[in-house]
Amino acid sequence: MWINKIKINNFRNYEKEKINLGKNINVFYGENAQGKTNIIESIFLCSMGKSFKAQVDKELINFNKEKAIVEIDFEKKDRKGNVKVEISDKKNIYLNEIKLKKLSDLLGNINVVLFTPEDIDILKGSPQKRRKFLNIMISQLRPNYIHILNLYLKTLEQRNNYLKLIKIENKDENLLDIWDEKLVEYGYKIYEYRKEFIEKIKNKIKNIHNNLTENKEEIEIEYICDFKEKDEFLKLLKKRRKLDIIKGFTTKGIHRDDFIIYINDKDVSTYGSQGQNRSAILSLKLSELKVIYDEIGENPILLLDDFMSELDEKRKINFFKNIEDIQVIITCTEKITFENFKFFLYNVSKGKIIEKNEK
Ligand SMILES: Nc1ncnc2c1ncn2[C@@H]1O[C@H](COP(=O)(O)OP(=O)(O)O)[C@@H](O)[C@H]1O
Ligand SMILES: [Mg+2]
Repeated sequence: MWINKIKINNFRNYEKEKINLGKNINVFYGENAQGKTNIIESIFLCSMGKSFKAQVDKELINFNKEKAIVEIDFEKKDRKGNVKVEISDKKNIYLNEIKLKKLSDLLGNINVVLFTPEDIDILKGSPQKRRKFLNIMISQLRPNYIHILNLYLKTLEQRNNYLKLIKIENKDENLLDIWDEKLVEYGYKIYEYRKEFIEKIKNKIKNIHNNLTENKEEIEIEYICDFKEKDEFLKLLKKRRKLDIIKGFTTKGIHRDDFIIYINDKDVSTYGSQGQNRSAILSLKLSELKVIYDEIGENPILLLDDFMSELDEKRKINFFKNIEDIQVIITCTEKITFENFKFFLYNVSKGKIIEKNEK
Protein backbone atom coordinates (compact mmCIF):
# COMPACT_ATOMS: atom_id res chain seq x y z
CA MET A 1 0.00 0.00 0.00
CA TRP A 2 1.10 3.57 -0.29
CA ILE A 3 0.30 7.16 0.54
CA ASN A 4 -0.25 9.59 -2.33
CA LYS A 5 -0.71 12.81 -0.50
CA ILE A 6 -0.39 14.36 2.94
CA LYS A 7 -2.06 17.62 3.88
CA ILE A 8 -0.95 19.24 7.11
CA ASN A 9 -2.58 22.16 8.85
CA ASN A 10 -1.27 23.75 12.04
CA PHE A 11 0.30 20.48 13.09
CA ARG A 12 3.49 20.86 15.23
CA ASN A 13 5.75 23.44 13.55
CA TYR A 14 3.81 23.33 10.27
CA GLU A 15 1.14 25.76 9.12
CA LYS A 16 -0.10 24.69 5.75
CA GLU A 17 1.74 22.05 3.72
CA LYS A 18 0.80 19.66 0.98
CA ILE A 19 3.13 16.80 0.10
CA ASN A 20 2.84 14.50 -2.89
CA LEU A 21 4.69 11.26 -2.18
CA GLY A 22 6.36 8.83 -4.55
CA LYS A 23 5.44 5.16 -4.52
CA ASN A 24 8.91 4.03 -3.51
CA ILE A 25 11.56 5.83 -1.50
CA ASN A 26 10.88 9.33 -0.18
CA VAL A 27 13.71 11.15 1.56
CA PHE A 28 13.08 14.15 3.82
CA TYR A 29 16.37 15.81 4.66
CA GLY A 30 17.22 18.88 6.65
CA GLU A 31 18.99 20.16 9.74
CA ASN A 32 17.88 19.32 13.25
CA ALA A 33 14.63 20.68 14.69
CA GLN A 34 13.19 21.60 11.28
CA GLY A 35 10.18 19.27 11.29
CA LYS A 36 11.35 15.96 9.82
CA THR A 37 10.16 13.74 12.67
CA ASN A 38 6.92 15.72 12.72
CA ILE A 39 6.17 14.41 9.20
CA ILE A 40 6.66 10.84 10.36
CA GLU A 41 4.49 11.59 13.38
CA SER A 42 1.69 12.98 11.19
CA ILE A 43 1.58 9.77 9.17
CA PHE A 44 1.64 7.63 12.30
CA LEU A 45 -1.23 9.71 13.68
CA CYS A 46 -3.41 8.85 10.69
CA SER A 47 -2.45 5.21 11.01
CA MET A 48 -2.91 4.65 14.74
CA GLY A 49 -5.03 7.63 15.77
CA LYS A 50 -2.36 8.85 18.12
CA SER A 51 1.24 9.95 18.25
CA PHE A 52 4.12 7.61 19.06
CA LYS A 53 5.81 10.26 21.18
CA ALA A 54 3.37 12.93 22.40
CA GLN A 55 1.94 12.44 25.89
CA VAL A 56 -1.21 14.40 25.08
CA ASP A 57 -2.81 15.23 21.73
CA LYS A 58 -2.69 18.94 22.47
CA GLU A 59 1.07 18.90 21.97
CA LEU A 60 0.43 18.29 18.30
CA ILE A 61 -1.34 21.60 17.73
CA ASN A 62 0.86 24.41 16.50
CA PHE A 63 1.74 26.67 19.45
CA ASN A 64 -0.21 29.62 18.12
CA LYS A 65 -3.21 27.80 16.77
CA GLU A 66 -6.44 26.16 17.98
CA LYS A 67 -6.78 23.19 15.72
CA ALA A 68 -4.43 20.78 13.96
CA ILE A 69 -5.51 18.78 10.92
CA VAL A 70 -3.68 16.00 9.14
CA GLU A 71 -5.19 14.40 6.08
CA ILE A 72 -3.84 11.50 4.07
CA ASP A 73 -4.87 9.98 0.75
CA PHE A 74 -3.82 6.35 0.53
CA GLU A 75 -4.18 3.53 -1.90
CA LYS A 76 -4.40 -0.19 -1.23
CA LYS A 77 -4.50 -2.93 -3.81
CA ASP A 78 -8.29 -3.01 -3.81
CA ARG A 79 -9.34 0.47 -2.75
CA LYS A 80 -8.47 4.11 -2.27
CA GLY A 81 -9.08 5.87 1.00
CA ASN A 82 -8.76 9.07 2.93
CA VAL A 83 -8.08 9.56 6.63
CA LYS A 84 -8.45 12.89 8.36
CA VAL A 85 -7.53 13.56 11.98
CA GLU A 86 -8.59 16.82 13.60
CA ILE A 87 -7.26 17.81 16.99
CA SER A 88 -8.65 20.71 18.98
CA ASP A 89 -10.19 20.44 22.44
CA LYS A 90 -11.18 17.01 21.28
CA LYS A 91 -10.09 14.65 18.57
CA ASN A 92 -12.20 13.74 15.55
CA ILE A 93 -11.17 11.07 13.09
CA TYR A 94 -12.73 10.65 9.64
CA LEU A 95 -12.43 7.76 7.24
CA ASN A 96 -13.58 8.59 3.72
CA GLU A 97 -15.25 11.67 5.18
CA ILE A 98 -17.32 9.71 7.67
CA LYS A 99 -16.69 10.49 11.31
CA LEU A 100 -15.58 7.42 13.23
CA LYS A 101 -17.15 6.48 16.53
CA LYS A 102 -14.34 4.24 17.75
CA LEU A 103 -10.57 4.32 17.36
CA SER A 104 -10.65 0.66 16.37
CA ASP A 105 -12.56 1.61 13.21
CA LEU A 106 -9.48 3.51 12.06
CA LEU A 107 -6.91 0.81 12.79
CA GLY A 108 -5.84 -1.35 9.89
CA ASN A 109 -6.50 1.22 7.19
CA ILE A 110 -3.04 2.71 6.93
CA ASN A 111 -0.53 0.03 7.89
CA VAL A 112 2.89 1.20 8.97
CA VAL A 113 6.09 -0.10 10.46
CA LEU A 114 8.00 2.58 12.33
CA PHE A 115 11.75 2.71 12.94
CA THR A 116 13.10 5.42 15.22
CA PRO A 117 16.42 5.92 17.00
CA GLU A 118 14.58 5.23 20.28
CA ASP A 119 13.90 1.69 19.09
CA ILE A 120 17.11 0.59 20.73
CA ASP A 121 15.04 0.87 23.94
CA ILE A 122 12.75 -1.92 22.74
CA LEU A 123 15.30 -4.44 23.89
CA LYS A 124 17.35 -2.43 26.38
CA GLY A 125 14.45 -0.63 28.02
CA SER A 126 11.59 -1.65 30.29
CA PRO A 127 9.07 -4.38 29.34
CA GLN A 128 6.60 -1.59 28.66
CA LYS A 129 8.54 -0.75 25.48
CA ARG A 130 8.24 -4.33 24.29
CA ARG A 131 4.53 -4.43 25.05
CA LYS A 132 4.15 -1.19 23.07
CA PHE A 133 5.86 -2.84 20.12
CA LEU A 134 3.40 -5.75 20.30
CA ASN A 135 0.43 -3.45 20.76
CA ILE A 136 1.27 -1.38 17.68
CA MET A 137 1.69 -4.45 15.50
CA ILE A 138 -1.30 -6.41 16.71
CA SER A 139 -3.81 -3.57 16.87
CA GLN A 140 -3.22 -2.77 13.19
CA LEU A 141 -4.14 -6.31 12.27
CA ARG A 142 -6.74 -7.14 14.92
CA PRO A 143 -8.58 -3.89 15.70
CA ASN A 144 -10.54 -5.70 18.43
CA TYR A 145 -7.26 -6.21 20.29
CA ILE A 146 -7.01 -2.60 21.42
CA HIS A 147 -10.64 -2.65 22.54
CA ILE A 148 -10.04 -5.69 24.75
CA LEU A 149 -6.74 -4.32 26.00
CA ASN A 150 -8.51 -1.13 27.08
CA LEU A 151 -11.19 -3.17 28.87
CA TYR A 152 -8.45 -5.11 30.64
CA LEU A 153 -6.61 -1.97 31.70
CA LYS A 154 -9.80 -0.35 32.95
CA THR A 155 -10.65 -3.46 34.97
CA LEU A 156 -7.11 -3.57 36.30
CA GLU A 157 -7.40 0.01 37.48
CA GLN A 158 -10.71 -0.73 39.21
CA ARG A 159 -9.28 -3.82 40.86
CA ASN A 160 -6.25 -1.88 42.05
CA ASN A 161 -8.46 0.84 43.49
CA TYR A 162 -10.51 -1.75 45.29
CA LEU A 163 -7.39 -3.47 46.66
CA LYS A 164 -6.46 -0.17 48.28
CA LEU A 165 -9.95 0.17 49.74
CA ILE A 166 -9.70 -3.29 51.29
CA LYS A 167 -6.44 -2.30 52.91
CA ILE A 168 -7.53 1.13 54.11
CA GLU A 169 -11.24 0.71 54.78
CA ASN A 170 -11.44 -3.01 55.38
CA LYS A 171 -13.86 -3.54 52.48
CA ASP A 172 -15.18 -7.01 51.67
CA GLU A 173 -12.43 -9.01 50.05
CA ASN A 174 -14.84 -11.38 48.31
CA LEU A 175 -16.00 -8.65 45.97
CA LEU A 176 -12.64 -9.03 44.23
CA ASP A 177 -14.09 -12.13 42.56
CA ILE A 178 -15.93 -9.91 40.09
CA TRP A 179 -12.76 -8.12 38.99
CA ASP A 180 -10.81 -11.36 38.92
CA GLU A 181 -13.25 -12.97 36.53
CA LYS A 182 -13.19 -9.99 34.20
CA LEU A 183 -9.42 -9.73 34.28
CA VAL A 184 -9.13 -13.38 33.38
CA GLU A 185 -11.63 -13.07 30.55
CA TYR A 186 -9.91 -10.08 28.90
CA GLY A 187 -6.39 -11.03 29.92
CA TYR A 188 -6.60 -14.48 28.42
CA LYS A 189 -7.75 -13.04 25.08
CA ILE A 190 -4.79 -10.66 25.05
CA TYR A 191 -2.50 -13.58 25.88
CA GLU A 192 -3.88 -15.50 22.91
CA TYR A 193 -3.33 -12.60 20.53
CA ARG A 194 0.19 -11.98 21.77
CA LYS A 195 1.07 -15.66 21.63
CA GLU A 196 -0.25 -15.89 18.09
CA PHE A 197 1.78 -12.90 16.92
CA ILE A 198 5.00 -13.81 18.67
CA GLU A 199 4.67 -17.19 16.97
CA LYS A 200 4.30 -15.40 13.62
CA ILE A 201 7.39 -13.29 14.35
CA LYS A 202 9.26 -16.42 15.36
CA ASN A 203 8.51 -17.95 11.96
CA LYS A 204 10.03 -14.98 10.16
CA ILE A 205 12.87 -13.73 12.29
CA LYS A 206 15.35 -16.58 11.87
CA ASN A 207 15.65 -16.23 8.13
CA ILE A 208 15.74 -12.47 8.21
CA HIS A 209 18.44 -12.45 10.85
CA ASN A 210 20.48 -15.04 9.01
CA ASN A 211 20.44 -12.86 5.91
CA LEU A 212 21.25 -9.74 7.85
CA THR A 213 24.19 -11.26 9.70
CA GLU A 214 25.29 -13.61 6.94
CA ASN A 215 24.53 -16.68 9.05
CA LYS A 216 26.83 -15.60 11.87
CA GLU A 217 24.13 -15.43 14.53
CA GLU A 218 21.18 -17.53 15.67
CA ILE A 219 18.19 -15.59 16.85
CA GLU A 220 15.28 -16.72 19.06
CA ILE A 221 12.30 -14.96 20.53
CA GLU A 222 10.40 -16.06 23.63
CA TYR A 223 7.09 -14.78 24.96
CA ILE A 224 7.02 -14.32 28.74
CA CYS A 225 3.61 -14.33 30.40
CA ASP A 226 2.58 -15.12 33.98
CA PHE A 227 0.25 -17.89 32.79
CA LYS A 228 -0.45 -20.24 29.92
CA GLU A 229 -3.96 -21.43 30.72
CA LYS A 230 -7.08 -19.47 31.59
CA ASP A 231 -7.57 -21.38 34.87
CA GLU A 232 -3.96 -20.82 35.74
CA PHE A 233 -4.46 -17.05 35.60
CA LEU A 234 -7.52 -17.23 37.86
CA LYS A 235 -5.69 -19.44 40.35
CA LEU A 236 -2.74 -17.08 40.30
CA LEU A 237 -4.97 -14.10 41.14
CA LYS A 238 -6.52 -15.99 44.05
CA LYS A 239 -3.17 -17.18 45.30
CA ARG A 240 -1.72 -13.67 45.19
CA ARG A 241 -4.79 -11.98 46.65
CA LYS A 242 -3.31 -11.39 50.13
CA LEU A 243 -0.11 -10.05 48.64
CA ASP A 244 -2.02 -7.85 46.19
CA ILE A 245 -3.98 -6.35 49.10
CA ILE A 246 -0.78 -5.57 51.01
CA LYS A 247 0.83 -4.03 47.94
CA GLY A 248 -2.31 -2.27 46.77
CA PHE A 249 -1.94 -3.40 43.16
CA THR A 250 -2.30 -6.49 40.99
CA THR A 251 0.99 -8.36 40.87
CA LYS A 252 0.20 -10.86 38.09
CA GLY A 253 -1.31 -10.53 34.66
CA ILE A 254 -0.73 -9.53 31.05
CA HIS A 255 0.15 -5.98 32.14
CA ARG A 256 3.50 -7.54 33.09
CA ASP A 257 4.02 -9.41 29.80
CA ASP A 258 7.39 -9.38 28.14
CA PHE A 259 9.46 -11.05 25.47
CA ILE A 260 13.12 -11.90 25.27
CA ILE A 261 15.34 -12.05 22.23
CA TYR A 262 18.27 -14.43 22.33
CA ILE A 263 21.30 -14.25 20.08
CA ASN A 264 23.27 -17.49 20.13
CA ASP A 265 21.25 -18.58 23.20
CA LYS A 266 22.09 -15.48 25.24
CA ASP A 267 19.62 -12.73 26.15
CA VAL A 268 20.71 -9.97 23.79
CA SER A 269 19.56 -7.13 26.06
CA THR A 270 21.93 -8.34 28.79
CA TYR A 271 24.81 -9.91 26.90
CA GLY A 272 24.60 -8.48 23.41
CA SER A 273 26.83 -5.75 22.02
CA GLN A 274 25.37 -2.48 20.78
CA GLY A 275 25.69 -3.78 17.23
CA GLN A 276 23.94 -7.04 18.08
CA ASN A 277 21.11 -5.15 19.73
CA ARG A 278 20.72 -3.02 16.64
CA SER A 279 20.66 -6.03 14.33
CA ALA A 280 18.18 -7.80 16.58
CA ILE A 281 15.83 -4.84 16.46
CA LEU A 282 16.22 -4.55 12.73
CA SER A 283 15.31 -8.21 12.38
CA LEU A 284 12.39 -7.81 14.74
CA LYS A 285 10.98 -4.89 12.76
CA LEU A 286 11.55 -6.55 9.41
CA SER A 287 9.72 -9.57 10.79
CA GLU A 288 6.87 -7.27 11.78
CA LEU A 289 6.81 -6.05 8.19
CA LYS A 290 6.60 -9.60 6.82
CA VAL A 291 3.92 -10.55 9.32
CA ILE A 292 1.83 -7.57 8.23
CA TYR A 293 2.43 -8.51 4.60
CA ASP A 294 1.17 -12.05 5.22
CA GLU A 295 -1.90 -10.75 6.98
CA ILE A 296 -3.02 -8.03 4.58
CA GLY A 297 -1.50 -9.35 1.36
CA GLU A 298 0.51 -6.23 0.64
CA ASN A 299 3.37 -4.27 2.13
CA PRO A 300 2.83 -1.73 4.89
CA ILE A 301 4.52 1.65 4.69
CA LEU A 302 7.95 1.94 6.27
CA LEU A 303 8.64 5.01 8.36
CA LEU A 304 12.36 5.40 8.98
CA ASP A 305 13.06 8.31 11.28
CA ASP A 306 16.73 9.29 11.43
CA PHE A 307 17.39 5.69 10.84
CA MET A 308 20.12 5.67 8.27
CA SER A 309 22.53 7.11 10.79
CA GLU A 310 22.04 3.96 12.86
CA LEU A 311 23.30 1.65 10.15
CA ASP A 312 26.73 0.99 8.74
CA GLU A 313 27.11 0.57 4.98
CA LYS A 314 26.82 -3.20 4.99
CA ARG A 315 23.69 -3.29 7.13
CA LYS A 316 22.20 -0.54 4.96
CA ILE A 317 22.64 -2.59 1.81
CA ASN A 318 21.29 -5.75 3.45
CA PHE A 319 18.40 -3.76 4.79
CA PHE A 320 17.37 -2.32 1.44
CA LYS A 321 17.58 -5.74 -0.15
CA ASN A 322 14.76 -6.66 2.21
CA ILE A 323 12.43 -3.86 1.27
CA GLU A 324 11.82 -3.79 -2.43
CA ASP A 325 8.35 -2.73 -3.56
CA ILE A 326 7.65 -0.90 -0.36
CA GLN A 327 6.85 2.75 0.13
CA VAL A 328 9.51 4.11 2.43
CA ILE A 329 9.53 7.48 4.14
CA ILE A 330 13.02 8.34 5.36
CA THR A 331 14.22 11.31 7.35
CA CYS A 332 17.89 12.22 7.66
CA THR A 333 20.19 15.16 8.15
CA GLU A 334 22.32 14.47 5.08
CA LYS A 335 20.97 14.48 1.58
CA ILE A 336 21.29 10.78 0.78
CA THR A 337 20.90 9.16 -2.59
CA PHE A 338 20.25 5.60 -3.68
CA GLU A 339 21.80 3.87 -6.58
CA ASN A 340 19.49 1.44 -8.35
CA PHE A 341 16.41 2.79 -6.58
CA LYS A 342 13.87 5.34 -7.66
CA PHE A 343 13.55 7.98 -4.98
CA PHE A 344 12.03 11.37 -4.23
CA LEU A 345 13.75 14.15 -2.32
CA TYR A 346 12.26 16.80 -0.08
CA ASN A 347 14.05 19.49 1.86
CA VAL A 348 12.66 20.34 5.27
CA SER A 349 13.45 23.72 6.73
CA LYS A 350 11.63 25.63 9.48
CA GLY A 351 8.34 23.89 8.91
CA LYS A 352 8.42 24.25 5.14
CA ILE A 353 8.81 21.42 2.69
CA ILE A 354 10.37 21.94 -0.70
CA GLU A 355 10.16 19.21 -3.31
CA LYS A 356 13.53 18.70 -4.96
CA ASN A 357 12.40 16.27 -7.59
CA GLU A 358 13.14 16.70 -11.23
CA LYS A 359 9.95 16.66 -13.18
N1 LIG B 1 3.16 22.17 18.93
C1 LIG B 1 4.19 22.74 18.31
N2 LIG B 1 4.04 23.95 17.70
C2 LIG B 1 5.08 24.54 17.04
N3 LIG B 1 6.30 23.99 16.93
C3 LIG B 1 6.49 22.78 17.50
C4 LIG B 1 5.46 22.10 18.21
N4 LIG B 1 5.96 20.94 18.66
C5 LIG B 1 7.23 20.88 18.26
N5 LIG B 1 7.58 21.99 17.56
C6 LIG B 1 8.85 22.32 16.95
O1 LIG B 1 9.17 21.35 15.99
C7 LIG B 1 10.59 21.27 15.88
C8 LIG B 1 11.06 19.84 15.98
O2 LIG B 1 10.56 19.14 14.95
P1 LIG B 1 11.13 17.70 14.61
O3 LIG B 1 10.28 17.18 13.52
O4 LIG B 1 11.27 16.89 15.82
O5 LIG B 1 12.57 18.10 14.05
P2 LIG B 1 13.64 17.21 13.27
O6 LIG B 1 13.75 17.87 11.93
O7 LIG B 1 14.89 17.34 14.05
O8 LIG B 1 13.13 15.83 13.21
C9 LIG B 1 11.17 22.06 17.00
O9 LIG B 1 11.66 23.26 16.45
C10 LIG B 1 9.99 22.29 17.91
O10 LIG B 1 10.10 23.50 18.60
MG1 LIG C 1 13.94 14.14 14.15
